[in-house]
Amino acid sequence: MTHPDYPHLFSPIRIGNFVVPNRICQVPTDISSGNADGSVNQRVITYHEQIAKGGCGFIIVGASTPDRATGRPTVTCLSVDEDPMIPGLAELAEAMHRHGATCAVQIQHPGRQAAWPRKDLVSATDQVVELPGSAGHEVVYAEELAKGKSVRAMTVEEVYALVEKFAEAAWRVQQAGFDAVELHGAHGYLIAQFMSPYVNRRNDRFGGTFINRMRIVLEIIARIRHKCGRDFPVGVRYSGEEWIEGGRTIAESVTIAQLLEQQGADFVDISAGIFEAPAAVMDPMYYPQGWNTYAAEEVKKHVSIPVITSHTLRDPGYCEKILAAGRADLVGLSRQMIADPYWANKAYARQPEEIRKCISCLVGCWQESLMIKRHMRCAINPAVGDERFIHLEPAGTPRRLGVVGGGPGGMEAARIAALRGHQVTLFERTGELGGALLCTCMLPGKNKLRWYADWLRRQVAKLGVEVRLHSTPGLEELRGFDAVILATGSKVARPAIPGIDSTRVCTFEDVLRCKVEGCEYHPGDREPPLECGQTVLVWGDHFAAADSAEKLAGDGKKVYVVTENREFAQWMEPCHRDVLFKRFAGSNGEGLTSKPFQHTVTVIANTTVTEIKDSGEVALMDHRFRKSALAVDNVVLASVVPEESLYDQLLDAEITAVKIGDHKRVRNLLSAVKEGANAALTIDDGLALNANRALTSRHPTEVGRGAGVIAAG
Ligand SMILES: Cc1cc2nc3c(=O)[nH]c(=O)nc-3n(C[C@H](O)[C@H](O)[C@H](O)COP(=O)(O)O)c2cc1C
Repeated sequence: MTHPDYPHLFSPIRIGNFVVPNRICQVPTDISSGNADGSVNQRVITYHEQIAKGGCGFIIVGASTPDRATGRPTVTCLSVDEDPMIPGLAELAEAMHRHGATCAVQIQHPGRQAAWPRKDLVSATDQVVELPGSAGHEVVYAEELAKGKSVRAMTVEEVYALVEKFAEAAWRVQQAGFDAVELHGAHGYLIAQFMSPYVNRRNDRFGGTFINRMRIVLEIIARIRHKCGRDFPVGVRYSGEEWIEGGRTIAESVTIAQLLEQQGADFVDISAGIFEAPAAVMDPMYYPQGWNTYAAEEVKKHVSIPVITSHTLRDPGYCEKILAAGRADLVGLSRQMIADPYWANKAYARQPEEIRKCISCLVGCWQESLMIKRHMRCAINPAVGDERFIHLEPAGTPRRLGVVGGGPGGMEAARIAALRGHQVTLFERTGELGGALLCTCMLPGKNKLRWYADWLRRQVAKLGVEVRLHSTPGLEELRGFDAVILATGSKVARPAIPGIDSTRVCTFEDVLRCKVEGCEYHPGDREPPLECGQTVLVWGDHFAAADSAEKLAGDGKKVYVVTENREFAQWMEPCHRDVLFKRFAGSNGEGLTSKPFQHTVTVIANTTVTEIKDSGEVALMDHRFRKSALAVDNVVLASVVPEESLYDQLLDAEITAVKIGDHKRVRNLLSAVKEGANAALTIDDGLALNANRALTSRHPTEVGRGAGVIAAG
């Protein structure tokens, strides 16, 4: 049956000797959630099973190491280097097969980019690397200079030994019942280190000429064929362009695909980038949908094996167009499946508006997980890594819940609580829901945040949450609830310095307010954004400061950013930071076509503002007490502190209340959503505050019947 909306997306395709039921592929995603020895556990099975259940046709399990001793891409990646891993892998394959999906494992040796071990790393070439966007980067060192690692070139004997380990690993994948295997030749990992003209400086049979650089992957394919038979499908993932001077360009990528096809590869999976320039690998929010598909399209013109395209594919309608135009054979989604594993089913059911679209923030799945050697999470999908959110238990006793603050944390709390059967009232001070997510909706590249705000608004409305806009409830109003979640976020900080009340001083909210006209949600009560003068000083080191600087620089202003810290935006996810600094310097992220800033943005670090004069002169002082001055038209205050709180009053009045997100401590979207979701999940029988003043319920039997039950307040 042809699907009425997405006929191409939901048509089958043959890869080698197996048929994928639709054109949707989960491109490899290392969720770093295996056991410490790399064996499969229930977390790994659940993650992939949900994607299969969600209707994805072809799931490529993320980077799995063929040799733990010399390289794990993440500390708890899967391992395929020993036969005892096979039974666990078989369970994983079965869990996907029983939902109709086909599946492969990506075999990857990280070489220089290993997260573990941290020393004695190997590569194609002797090198000292510092790759701040990579999971192998030493984010644990406070000392800047300690971050670089030296790696050494593998000997020819070592290369051949590793080729054998790849083939053995593929054989284990086959034994476990997977439909195929994929080799990871992208993103500057080991195979890519050999294939890359930028990295590979060898002059033996594994370097120098094109064919020598390709030799490692060709040898691996040949050995896999020998071990697994000619029928076992093998695919290769590599970067269409490395986006670095001296790196691979698209012309060579076409030749690679042709060579791989000749050598019997069954599919190619065209990715992007190398970790020297990490943004093309892990494309941040700035990147428009489908920006990398040109590479698959070019390759596809020259081969007849299936070609997978990936990078920021979010809308089924957009994916359908790629396939209909013949630009690729399968659409590859990684982070989208993290944010919403049921993407395919929602498209199939013709409900694309129900898809929780990934906003490409990289906070949960990268910065605060794989990069710091933890299991993968997601900023907007609390069910990743936490099965309690997959099958929500209905509340034992429905409660009346008041949520104060309609930002992402408050809305997520309202959503989960309503799904569990609680009666929820959501109070929002302004005229619309969305909170801090809305600050950037006018900012080129950052407007994906609005997708999430829209999705939450839709869920809140659908679930019958009572929304009270323009509402700041007091103690008396909140007394009527069984529990109150305070999610009012943060507000601008106003340091007590001379001139802080000058007319030249404004706040990030004045600058970032979205435009009034043409906004479908605008309730008609908001001032248009403030028009700043030509030279602006942004003071702070927070999302608010980075976004204000970008907004103003994008409007053609000359912007100075003043931070008391040693470097600006150290808290920022490193791929975003990489693009931000390139844009500050007047260039752009790799592959981005957005207009570069007219003036460079000047960051003044280790410095504070001591006075703002009415004339526009701003007095500065650095960490060595040296004074200087700048003449500007406006100063934008862009530091934040938690909003004033009713919390203590609520507790004094014996109302069960809890603070979440920035209202508790200024952090990010991941914390707000996670805490909102957790609070809503906790509200149940025996609701109380424990001795830590945390919400608790469902007490153990031992304390549930009298002694030890905690009184609220
Ligand atoms: C948490 C995480 C893990 C990833 N692991 C792998 C991996 O194991 N192998 C790989 O080739 N790419 C990996 N990638 C890259 C993705 O497959 C994908 O190319 C990239 O995220 C861009 O596509 P997307 O917008 O669909 O996420 C990973 C990406 C993320 C965010």
